[in-house]
Amino acid sequence: MQAMQANQTHVGQTYLHPLPVRIWHWINALGFVLLMLTGVQIRYADLFSVMTFESALNVHNWIGFVIIANYFLWLGYYLTSDRISNYHAVLNAKDFFNNYYRQAVYYSYGIFRGEKRPHNVQPHDKFNPMQRLTYQVIMMISGPIQIVTGLMMWDVKRFESWIALAGGIRVVSTIHMLVFILFVVFILVHAYMGVLGRKPSTHYKEMFTGYAEDGDH
Ligand code: HEM
Repeated sequence: MQAMQANQTHVGQTYLHPLPVRIWHWINALGFVLLMLTGVQIRYADLFSVMTFESALNVHNWIGFVIIANYFLWLGYYLTSDRISNYHAVLNAKDFFNNYYRQAVYYSYGIFRGEKRPHNVQPHDKFNPMQRLTYQVIMMISGPIQIVTGLMMWDVKRFESWIALAGGIRVVSTIHMLVFILFVVFILVHAYMGVLGRKPSTHYKEMFTGYAEDGDH
């Protein structure tokens, strides 16, 4: 594994994002945007009529299943790779808060003064403390909640015992809506943070090629 990764590292470049992660990411990004648009059409069928309610529901369900399968690509990759270290929690509370604070100060102040980034990006430790926590929540809490609540509403009959356990279909639908709002905020902030590299295109390019140019982090 180490030898393979060494081969993938070109001179002056670091291999940050392996192919399965990049494939997962861009399918996921497109899928999320489509899920959000069709979701709004389903929820506010009386306000928008880009497509019929039935078509919006069908497209939403199909894309939902693609996103679920894609989620398992992401999970399967990380569970079988030593790069899972990127998602490990920092268990030392003092380290966690100090590093998180340094990163927050950098984003609110240092970045505008051209200061050095506080986090040293490495293939097995590529996320700064704010990214690490955000991605943990998005991928391991909100994503699964959205999948499960989506499945419950997709087939109310089949999942009636789960729905009862959750407190009824209105509770399930409200949770799905609240997580949707969280995802909208996440995508807007995430897409914006993505342009904060050395050049606005730097992180986007990395997420397509997999490679970071040395000096870009
Ligand atoms: C328009 C939509 C999106 C754009 C433009 C975008 C952009 C980017 C960029 C530039 C990166 C690389 C920099 C970084 O690691 O932060 C990235 C990574 C990442 N994005 Fe997105 N993204 C989008 C949608 C999403 C969605 C919907 C999710 C999850 C629900 C997501 C989750 C992630 C994660 C977890 C990573 C790190 C992946 C890894 O290296 O393991 N992104 N994104």
